[in-house]
Amino acid sequence: MVQALSHKLILGIDTSCDETSAAVLKDAHVLLSNIISSQIKIHQPHGGVVPELASRAHCENIQRIIKEALNQASVSFEDLTGIAITTSPGLIGCLLVGLSVAKSLAYARQIPFTEVHHLKGHLFSPFVGTPENEIPYPFIGVVVSGGHTALYLVKSFESIELLGQTVDDACGEAYDKVAKVLGLGYPGGPLMDKLAQKGNPKAHRFTRARVKRGPLFLSYSGLKTAIGQILQKGDMDTSNPSTNPEVIDLIASFQWEAIEAIIDKIELTLQNNRVNAVVVSGGVACNSYLRQRVKELSESLGIKYLIPPPVLCTDNGAMIAYVGAQQLLRGQKSNWDANAHASKPLF
Ligand code: KG4
Ligand code: ZN
Repeated sequence: MVQALSHKLILGIDTSCDETSAAVLKDAHVLLSNIISSQIKIHQPHGGVVPELASRAHCENIQRIIKEALNQASVSFEDLTGIAITTSPGLIGCLLVGLSVAKSLAYARQIPFTEVHHLKGHLFSPFVGTPENEIPYPFIGVVVSGGHTALYLVKSFESIELLGQTVDDACGEAYDKVAKVLGLGYPGGPLMDKLAQKGNPKAHRFTRARVKRGPLFLSYSGLKTAIGQILQKGDMDTSNPSTNPEVIDLIASFQWEAIEAIIDKIELTLQNNRVNAVVVSGGVACNSYLRQRVKELSESLGIKYLIPPPVLCTDNGAMIAYVGAQQLLRGQKSNWDANAHASKPLF
C-alpha cells in the first residue's frame, strides 16, 4: 500500500562501479539535481575498471558530489527526508563506500534510508520526472549495460518477472572487450558506436548463438570470439583502428549483430506479451543504432517506447533516488545492519 507523500526530498547515491553520483528528487519524481563524476580517466590507462582504484576514487569524491547535488538543488542536509542507496549488484568496495556514507547521513539526520537494487534503478530510469500513477504498466523493461543484458515483464513496481538474459557476457561488456582488442581504449561502447556509423554493417556475417535456456536468452561470447578469430588471422591492419576502413566495417558488422540480437528478443517478447510500452535502459541504451531500431520496431508494432536521455542511461543517482522514493512511500526502510552484495538477483 502506498502511503501519503511523506518523503519529499530524497538524496539518491550510486557508487556501484566507476561513476560517483548523487541526485536530489522532490515529491518522488521531480529531479532537482543529478551530479555524476566519471572515473574514466582513472581506469583508461588500465583498459578497464580497476576495483581498488574505483573504491578509492569514490572515497575521495563522494562528499564533494553530495554537496554539489544539494547545492544545485538548493537544499541543505536538514531538508532531506530520506536517502536511497545502491547496495547491489556492483563492485563490493565501491558499494560499501556509498552505503557507509548513506548510513552516516541517515543516522546523523535521523531520517530513513532504503537499499536500492541497481537494475531496478536502470529499469525505472526512463520514468524519472514521471509520477508513479503515470507509469504505463505492464511494460517490457530491457536493461542493456556493461554488467547486464536482460528483459523483464514489469507488471507493477513490486511485480517484475525475468523473461530472458544473456548467459555469458553483457552487451556493453562485449563492446568493451572488442574495443580493447582493437586498441580503442576504455570504455569501448561510445567510440565503437561512432565508428560503426561510418562502416558497412553487412561486411561480415556472424552466426547467432542458440541458447538452450530458452528463446529469450542470448549469448555474446561467440560474437566476441568470432571477432578475435578474424583479427588473429593477421591480415587486417589494426595499427590505426579508427581510420582503417576494413576495421571500421568489422566494427559496424559487430554492432549490427550485437544490437539486432537484442532487437530480435524484444520483438519476440512483444509478440508474446500484451504490454503498454517497451522501455530500454542501461549504458548501451546510449547507442545510436539501438535507439534507432527500438524506435523503428515500436512504431511498426504501434507500441509506445521509452528510452531515457543518455545522462540517465549510464549510472546515475537520479534513478536510485526515484526507485528509493517509491520504496520509502511503501514503508521500505532499511535497518542499520544493511549490507552490500556484489551480486544479488533483482527478486
Ligand atoms: O549502465 P552503465 O553505465 O554501467 C553498468 O551498470 O554496467 O553501462 C556502461 C556500459 C559500458 O560497457 C559502455 O561501453 C556502454 O555502456 N556504452 C555504450 C555506449 N555508451 C555506453 N555501448 C554502446 N554504444 C554506446 N553509445
Ligand atoms: Zn549500471
